[in-house]
Amino acid sequence: MKLENAVVLITGANRGLGLAFAKEALARGAHKVYAAARNPASITLEGVIPVKLDVNNPEDVARVARDYKDVTLLINNAGVAETGGFLSGDAEAMLRRQLETNVFGPLKLARAFAPVLAANGGGAIINVLSIASWITGPLLATYSATKSAAWSLTNALRQELSGQQTHVLGLHVGFIDTDLTNGMDVPKIAPQVVAERTFDGLEQNAHQVLADEATQQVHQALSSHPDIYLHALNH
Ligand SMILES: NC(=O)c1ccc[n+]([C@@H]2O[C@H](COP(=O)([O-])OP(=O)(O)OC[C@H]3O[C@@H](n4cnc5c(N)ncnc54)[C@H](OP(=O)(O)O)[C@@H]3O)[C@@H](O)[C@H]2O)c1
Repeated sequence: MKLENAVVLITGANRGLGLAFAKEALARGAHKVYAAARNPASITLEGVIPVKLDVNNPEDVARVARDYKDVTLLINNAGVAETGGFLSGDAEAMLRRQLETNVFGPLKLARAFAPVLAANGGGAIINVLSIASWITGPLLATYSATKSAAWSLTNALRQELSGQQTHVLGLHVGFIDTDLTNGMDVPKIAPQVVAERTFDGLEQNAHQVLADEATQQVHQALSSHPDIYLHALNH
């Protein structure tokens, strides 16, 4: 699918990777970019249409799917990360909170927009996943579980939506230089580069984008060293 003339809706588009997607969609000639955020006043990028959307709010999701019927590309980008292992703090509450945004959010959006995309010829969905879909570590344990679940969701949606010609792309990436990784002293990729590589993949009909070297290495190791997930994700 080409970005040129696409009508794109991006969740969590006010900052971080979502903002980079919005800029790159405009640069590639998207017809319209709906930049969704919990607080639409936080959308300051010129050229986009601000949209109020909390992905955890069913009324918001229903309203957006009703009001923006011309969407051809949905980008499920909004996400949260809380640090801590399964034996630390209140891990159960932490996991539930993150599942709500990182799994049930994209699920709600995909279900609401499936008929919209079908009516517009199929279109595409990009789900923002992670290197942490495949490998975990004590700091990111609960977050990783949500990104593993989101990966499975993505693979199932790809199958379920293939009949209506909706292309589903999973983006896997390691550490990105955004607020989410503030304070983490690790190599990070720029959000703009991730957005560019993701759209390059979409334009070449890829079903999966591995946006950085660390993710490519882990992905390869899943087959060459099948036990890689027995080791922790370094952070
Ligand atoms: N940064 C990384 O290293 C990294 C690596 C792999 C994958 N990812 C994934 O990339 C995506 C973007 O993350 P980021 O790095 O750009 O993080 P970020 O800078 O912290 O931005 C997160 C975005 O998600 C939005 N958001 C959170 N909860 C929301 C909700 N309930 N409804 C709507 N929007 C909500 C935030 O909106 P507010 O401004 O309202 O909080 C913000 O726009 C996430 O899915 C994340 O898991 C990040």
